[in-house]
Amino acid sequence: MFDKVYQFNFPTTIRFGSGSSKEIGEYLTKNGLSNPLIVTDPLVAQLGFFTIIADDLKKQNKSVEVFFDIHKNPVKSDVYKGSDAFDGHNRDCIIGIGGGAALDVARAIVLRINHREDLFKYDDLVGGDVYVTNDVPHFITVPTTAGTGSEVGRSAIIADDITHQKKILFSPKLLAKIVFADPELTMGLPPAVTAATGMDALTHNMEAYIAKMPHPICEGIAMEGMALISQSLEKAVNKPDIESRSKMLIASMMGAIAFQKGLGVVHSLAHPLSSLLDTHHGLANAVNIPYGMEFNVSGFEDRFRKIARTLELKEESGEGVVRYLFEMNDKIAIPKRLREIGVKEEHIETLADLAFADFAHPNNPKPVSREDFKNLYKRAL
Ligand SMILES: NC(=O)c1ccc[n+]([C@@H]2O[C@H](COP(=O)([O-])OP(=O)(O)OC[C@H]3O[C@@H](n4cnc5c(N)ncnc54)[C@H](O)[C@@H]3O)[C@@H](O)[C@H]2O)c1
Ligand SMILES: [Fe+2]
Repeated sequence: MFDKVYQFNFPTTIRFGSGSSKEIGEYLTKNGLSNPLIVTDPLVAQLGFFTIIADDLKKQNKSVEVFFDIHKNPVKSDVYKGSDAFDGHNRDCIIGIGGGAALDVARAIVLRINHREDLFKYDDLVGGDVYVTNDVPHFITVPTTAGTGSEVGRSAIIADDITHQKKILFSPKLLAKIVFADPELTMGLPPAVTAATGMDALTHNMEAYIAKMPHPICEGIAMEGMALISQSLEKAVNKPDIESRSKMLIASMMGAIAFQKGLGVVHSLAHPLSSLLDTHHGLANAVNIPYGMEFNVSGFEDRFRKIARTLELKEESGEGVVRYLFEMNDKIAIPKRLREIGVKEEHIETLADLAFADFAHPNNPKPVSREDFKNLYKRAL
């Protein structure tokens, strides 16, 4: 890998720990900000901790406007409505509070404020990032799930309202200035969401570790991310305490930092399930990861042996890792088969087309053909 020049970036400030979300008001004051637009989702907007954060800001003389009108798999019109809320109420910064969906919409609104061409002109997959040239509003993120790590990311995944095709808005300008990562906010996450989002985080770390592109810094982070998840995911789902929640929250950010290196076959299997069947992103990864990793083992036995050691498995091999993934899914009540989450035989051809066209698998350690995708879906069905 020492034959080229590579670029590595790790710039976000993270305030991590119980109670860090209480620091937001003081941070706004220090930065001369007083009119935040809080972007969240309809469910989080109803939760106790959300009201506490919003009330706390009001007590510190901030004018708070909340926008929560977003879809489970966010679409372009969500972003347009949110940017109208920013303009209409004279806002001076954006605080995203929520899971990956809310944080992605918040980030896309950050982009849209000073970039008013059609949102998908900025689609990174067609080189649209070059049009992200203007300043963006001050952006703060507060994760409430431990999964996507979107709080430390530079991209937002937004779908077309009609075709449901997912687009990626990307720019280093879209990084949050600061993340308030408070594990207390994740204490009440229901088991099913904890399980699905946690497996998304594991998938990020594992796919990043074996991804094709060379990036030793990310590989180190991915390894520690996997170790933290193996120590805490089952507990966080079945008997949560602050330690397991903290480990999951930090590991999910590590996953997102690590996947600068790239993702792979599992995310390409998962993305079409969300666009075609509205499946939750984490759940789609969770069901597919044992099959996707099973596909990856041959030819990459050394990498998997290292993963097995990190996970402290008795069986130090790719087969051991695949068994671990099936067993972990079982312990945290993730279905074993795609048919249990609504996939039918007749979906497979379309799913295979979409997966083959997906952006994630070109970085998979081994090439994946359309036929491979079809076989993987059949195997997992
Ligand atoms: N930007 C990126 O790099 C990136 C990476 C992966 C996925 N994503 C996107 O992230 C989204 C998925 O994010 P997610 O997995 O965090 O799920 P999510 O944001 O959809 O949240 C899952 C559910 O949990 C609820 N919830 C959130 N926090 C809660 C809390 N503390 N207590 C109780 N309920 C809570 C939400 O209301 C929602 O119903 C998808 O849209 C996906 O495309 C983005
Ligand atoms: Fe993901």
